[in-house]
Amino acid sequence: MTIRTLYIPAGGGFDHVTLATSHAVEPGPGEITVRLRASSLNFHDYMVVKGITGPKERRIPMSDGAGEVIALGEGVSEFAVGDHVVSTFFPDWLDGEPQAEGFGRVPGDGIDGYARQQVTAPATAFTRAPRGWSHAEAATLTTAGLTAWRALMDDGALKPGEVVLVQGTGGVSVFALQLAKLAGARVIATSSSNDKLARLRELGADEVINYREDPEWGLSARRLTDGRGVDHVLDVGGPDTLAQSMLATRVGGHVSLIGVLSGVDCQLPLGLALGRQLRLQALVVGSRRQQQDMIRALEASDLRPVIDRHFPLEELVAAFEYQASGRHFGKIVLDL
Ligand SMILES: NC(=O)c1ccc[n+]([C@@H]2O[C@H](COP(=O)([O-])OP(=O)(O)OC[C@H]3O[C@@H](n4cnc5c(N)ncnc54)[C@H](OP(=O)(O)O)[C@@H]3O)[C@@H](O)[C@H]2O)c1
Repeated sequence: MTIRTLYIPAGGGFDHVTLATSHAVEPGPGEITVRLRASSLNFHDYMVVKGITGPKERRIPMSDGAGEVIALGEGVSEFAVGDHVVSTFFPDWLDGEPQAEGFGRVPGDGIDGYARQQVTAPATAFTRAPRGWSHAEAATLTTAGLTAWRALMDDGALKPGEVVLVQGTGGVSVFALQLAKLAGARVIATSSSNDKLARLRELGADEVINYREDPEWGLSARRLTDGRGVDHVLDVGGPDTLAQSMLATRVGGHVSLIGVLSGVDCQLPLGLALGRQLRLQALVVGSRRQQQDMIRALEASDLRPVIDRHFPLEELVAAFEYQASGRHFGKIVLDL
């Protein structure tokens, strides 16, 4: 089979994305071959492909991949041919504490990713996909879904009745809203668009705030909790949002440091962090075990990812330009 495959050169750059072919590889011991059907776009992939944090060498981009198993290497008993699977963000982080700094072993960044129709990889680089989900739906879980899951369920130990603040309507935040509602939380959601705020309400947001119209949205969120403050914030903005995120949070509350949408260097209001004894937890996605826990929970629920739009493999750059425009709500999927 000819495997249609996208490549970016060292350093990345939208003008340098090329569609070519790659060769099929037989699975060795412990490996599986997956006919990939879908990937999904993340801000991280955008930064790699655009060249903001381009790769050190020629690379197949995209960290998320879902499809079906078509061949098994010797000794693989976890999967069978025909199983639907989804990739993991850290192929070597199976369980326990985070293991490595940076993105050196992350598909689509430090190693080749899933902008291709077929891959042979260690079986542990994949988990089962949720039963009954499409490949496109499953492909949204690797990065965005698991980040929201870990922030709320593992780092946050979210309890029913707690208040969660989510920011904007990108992949991570929409998942966080859905998962928080699934867990019985009250959700305050922000967006720059009133139309999107209406959609957030339809998805279950209890309160919504337009962060463009209300630059002090953190204080407004706090007022919505009768002045106590929210229990958990998933900060995706970084420098532009962190101070308001912290102002929104209750004494002893939990701020997940997730996103860098407005940059990576920012001033930390240390007096506020100390005075409120905030728990600031930086995180990068999660482990294979956490992905398996999330998938079990999703199978016990009616939750389905919100997919805004699909693009074919050869239109990856157009898909990223659409993402950068900020018009999307939820996830953008690449069909393979
Ligand atoms: N640490 C991790 O493990 C991890 C994992 C996944 C993603 N991330 C990071 O999290 C961030 C979000 O990722 P994503 O994939 O969900 O992105 P995305 O889908 O591209 O989300 C973009 C949306 O975020 C909102 N937004 C943009 N700038 C904002 C700002 N200054 N304040 C508040 N909201 C803003 C906008 O929503 P509205 O149009 O509604 O305003 C925009 O449409 C990125 O920085 C990404 O790198 C981190």
